[in-house]
Amino acid sequence: MSEGLVTVSYIGATILFILSLGGLSNPETARRGNLYGIVGMTIAIVATLLEPRVNNYVPIIIAMLIGGSIGVFAATRIKMTEMPELVALMHSLVGLAAVLVGYANYMDTTSHFSGAEKSIHEVEIYVGILIGAVTFSGSVIAFLKLSARMSGKPLTLPLRHWLNLGLLIAVIVFGCKFLQAESIEAGYLPLAVMTGIALLFGIHMVMAIGGADMPVVVSMLNSYSGWAAAATGFMLSNDLLIVVGALVGSSGAILSYIMCKAMNRSFISVIAGGFGTDGGKPATSGANVPQGEVTPISAGDTAELLREASSVIIVPGYGMAVAQAQHTVYEITRLLREKGVNVRFGIHPVAGRMPGHMNVLLAEAKVPYDIVMEMDEINEDFPETDVAMVIGANDIVNPGAQEDPDSPIAGMPVLEVWKAKTSIVMKRSMASGYAGVDNPLFYKENNRMLFGDAKKMLDEVLSVLKT
Ligand code: TAP
Repeated sequence: MSEGLVTVSYIGATILFILSLGGLSNPETARRGNLYGIVGMTIAIVATLLEPRVNNYVPIIIAMLIGGSIGVFAATRIKMTEMPELVALMHSLVGLAAVLVGYANYMDTTSHFSGAEKSIHEVEIYVGILIGAVTFSGSVIAFLKLSARMSGKPLTLPLRHWLNLGLLIAVIVFGCKFLQAESIEAGYLPLAVMTGIALLFGIHMVMAIGGADMPVVVSMLNSYSGWAAAATGFMLSNDLLIVVGALVGSSGAILSYIMCKAMNRSFISVIAGGFGTDGGKPATSGANVPQGEVTPISAGDTAELLREASSVIIVPGYGMAVAQAQHTVYEITRLLREKGVNVRFGIHPVAGRMPGHMNVLLAEAKVPYDIVMEMDEINEDFPETDVAMVIGANDIVNPGAQEDPDSPIAGMPVLEVWKAKTSIVMKRSMASGYAGVDNPLFYKENNRMLFGDAKKMLDEVLSVLKT
């Protein structure tokens, strides 16, 4: 394929990637967005393979077969709730690729640069390996934390910010040494030391970040992996990789910003770390533990309350995903709507464990898009709502975020379910959610607790509603 045709294919692929990102911003167009992405990536791979520079296909085909099989295996096996850790693992591979390409590029003796060109090439290599190594080790730690192979508790070493600053200064010093190296051999030492520092920095950075901030970290690592890919593109003089890397890098950064806003946290405070716990345990001590009794409710009484209501808002959370209760939720919604009840859904931007988690599940269960509302659209409607039904959600409906300035999630915007006439929380126990904080909602006078697995409880509610 001629250079010109390759360039035209790259431009076509770039346009398709931009259309893909646009499509993915809305559940109704997400399927189309995915299709654009698939076509764009196919064009990109074929055009790259047919580039005049490529002449040995055997190792490429073997690598593609191995990589493709692992990808298909992972995509078919991984559960929706395990998506964040899979994404983290994928980012680590992009980082590792950037490191390996950087070293291969440096070792390549066939390309000869001199003067400014040589310096620019070496800066590309140094920065590419730096971003790649941070992305690699940071993503591996994120994977271990998200898959509970490592505690989610933040590791807060004394003087950790100074330690980070020291590492940054060392990276700059070794960068100067690398650029001044007389020969390729002399450049290996500063490059290797910097790689070690960058790996350590990635580990330390993610270890310091607590459970509740992990979603932001995953999207931040997504952004890093984009910049690592762009750096690889510079090293390989591949324009498409530069553009795609920049697209991933900037969209990851924008997503991180949106998530920080949804949690009312500044990006700097997330990166600085130290927030959140390993989650999942009830808070049993401390000044902020709410006092009081909870009022349990049965599935039958829940069904009666729903039947008598004229307006219901359903707030799904991580527990609905775990219990795979979305289809029963849809059945209940359909039945209530047939009886004339105004049923809507309130979706928190960080409900579940990944961006858009609840929207994906509800779309899968065929819940109509027009009754699925964003938090900002629906929050002021709670006072006029008869029943707010919380299904496996916890942190996103925690009034402590508004009422208790000492709460670790203070300031995080939440769905104000307690303002409804009655709120019903469906969960298995009094355990806390991801952020590891107790929830004063459970003790409110107008709140009822429906204890049990969400799917089982909703099946019971559904069968009573049907009678
Ligand atoms: P959480 O606060 O994690 O609460 C989920 C609740 O579901 C738990 O308290 C748990 O209580 C209950 N649950 C678990 N399995 C259940 C089952 N089978 N049936 C019924 N209930 C079940 O979830 P949330 O309210 O959706 O909030 C999300 C949290 O995750 C936020 O803190 C957010 O920052 C964080 N996070 C978000 C993301 C993104 S991007 N969405 C990614 C990672 C982390 P029991 O054990 O008592 O049942």
